Amino acid sequence: MVTPTPADKFSFGLWTVGWQGRDPFGDATRAELDAVEAVHRLAELGAYGLSFHDDDLFPFGAPAAERGRRIELLRKALAETGMVVPMVTTNLFTHPVFKDGGFTSNDRAVRRFALRKVLRNVELAAELGARTYVLWGGREGAEYDSAKDVRAALDRYRESLNMLTDFVRDRGYDLRFAIEPKPNEPRGDILLPTLGHALAFITTLEHPELVGVNPEVGHEQMAGLNFAHGIAQALWQGKLFHIDLNGQRGIKYDQDLVFGHGDLMNAFSLVDLLENGGPNGEPAYDGPRHFDYKPSRTEDMSGVWDSAAANMRTYLLLKERARAFRADPEVQQALSAAGVGDLRTPTLAAGEGYADLLADADGFDPDRAGERGYGFVRLNQLALEHLLGAR
Ligand code: XUL
Ligand code: MN
Ligand code: MN
Repeated sequence: MVTPTPADKFSFGLWTVGWQGRDPFGDATRAELDAVEAVHRLAELGAYGLSFHDDDLFPFGAPAAERGRRIELLRKALAETGMVVPMVTTNLFTHPVFKDGGFTSNDRAVRRFALRKVLRNVELAAELGARTYVLWGGREGAEYDSAKDVRAALDRYRESLNMLTDFVRDRGYDLRFAIEPKPNEPRGDILLPTLGHALAFITTLEHPELVGVNPEVGHEQMAGLNFAHGIAQALWQGKLFHIDLNGQRGIKYDQDLVFGHGDLMNAFSLVDLLENGGPNGEPAYDGPRHFDYKPSRTEDMSGVWDSAAANMRTYLLLKERARAFRADPEVQQALSAAGVGDLRTPTLAAGEGYADLLADADGFDPDRAGERGYGFVRLNQLALEHLLGAR
């Protein structure tokens, strides 16, 4: 039950288990991890997929031969393990050239260089069979309001996305883009800071059907937002193309903790939504369950693999707990008393309009309706008891 298998579709960024623990205040605490070893170890633990930035696989500016050699090594490891590459992304943040952004740098030559870097890696993503291409614009932003013309930056962002969707259409790639919002870090303020900003931006694109979102638990929680609510809206708009699972404890720097090691109650609601949130209780999302976390820099390599396993085990435990929650007759009764299902009934009857509604005001007693107790606290306590294994 809590042993991960490829059918669970768990995937990991190469940069997650490969993180050496370097932070703004301290040096690396672990040695470099070979990509081939990462693929083998993750496969042994039960994952099905690996994602990567171009620079995770081959060094920035690597000559063609070295780039090709690293790609071949990855291909071989994938073939040996049966692992797949469901998602690929670009590093437009580490090299100093991107210090003022990639697509929205004030320097036009940098913008053109950034786009070329993405195009080359989109080609590789398609060759490896990836279906999603993530765009996290960590350097697209500013520290100072006077330094960035935000409207011009959004024009350039849009211009870039429009060119990228032209590219995949012309090439016939079965690949969609997913914007990953984040409010800040490394820039003081990042453009498209939340899910809502990204969803609104997508409606302005030439091919909005090819662009969705890749929300990350910690990124929305850094902005004080309810992640499960955000995911529900992304699903409602048909835009949940991919997801980054991890843990975050409140409004602070991006902690990238193991999934469930932050707001556990919201993680429970999230898994319940993903796994049971379809119209008839089926999964609401069928894409990769992708972990974008960092093994804390206090850990040695065995701690790295323990933490990778912990992400998957926690997800499966929450899935099992959510199933028990839904199956509990007392929960069903509490849901019904709370009117949760009643919200699915349209407010107007078929064929009814505002005139009928205005004529219908008489029978309703707002004072009586105002006396109703919804029992939300009892419902939440039942959820918590299931989460704790007390029921
Ligand atoms: C950074 C982050 C990135 C993206 C991919 O906070 O989440 O790793 O997921 O570039
Ligand atoms: Mn992050
Ligand atoms: Mn992420």
